[in-house]
Amino acid sequence: MNLEQAKKILGEEFSRDADFLSSIVQKLGLPINSKVLDVGTGRAHMAMILALNGYKVMTGQPGDVYWADWRVSAKKVGVEEMITFKPFNAEKLPFNEDSFDAIFLYTTFHHIDNKEYAFNELMRVLKYKGILTIIELTDNGVELVRERYRGHPDAVDPRDYSKNLDLEVEVIESRHLNGYLYKKRLKHKK
Ligand SMILES: C[S@@+](CC[C@H](N)C(=O)[O-])C[C@H]1O[C@@H](n2cnc3c(N)ncnc32)[C@H](O)[C@@H]1O
Repeated sequence: MNLEQAKKILGEEFSRDADFLSSIVQKLGLPINSKVLDVGTGRAHMAMILALNGYKVMTGQPGDVYWADWRVSAKKVGVEEMITFKPFNAEKLPFNEDSFDAIFLYTTFHHIDNKEYAFNELMRVLKYKGILTIIELTDNGVELVRERYRGHPDAVDPRDYSKNLDLEVEVIESRHLNGYLYKKRLKHKK
């Protein structure tokens, strides 16, 4: 199924950011057999976008608390089999060093309590030359979300938490979301 068909089936909430998320995935040009991790399953919008682009995805969040019955949505658009769920906390990931070619966080980073721990963990499990993509709301995006969820926290800039890590970051800007693309330039120290 293509993205336009999926947007029609899943409706406004999925469609709002779908083009932006999909454009970032396509810009990365990852080989189709890449090992891909999505952190913070939520409604699995990011996982479904990755799957609709042809990638098998490992996704997870702490415990077995589901934000949404995302499996129903994934089934509707024919990608349920492409997505594997595993409970985990970004602050202590249950994966070996150098496990993933690409890691995605879509509106997850601001929810993580210890963002520095999470950054270290994300870089640990990312392969050398792998890409970490953190997609966060801009101030405009937060305003929009606050129309529905009044107490939503302020926007977060991941660069404030990666200063000590000597990482290069490319920023892709849009009105409601920014994508922060980090490339792992150093091999993990054993
Ligand atoms: C707004 S939702 C993210 C939306 C989701 N990425 C999507 O595509 O639908 C925020 C997510 O962050 C997750 N989260 C919060 N703290 C976390 C942590 N320490 N590690 C991993 N995920 C976390 C929550 O469980 C929730 O799934």
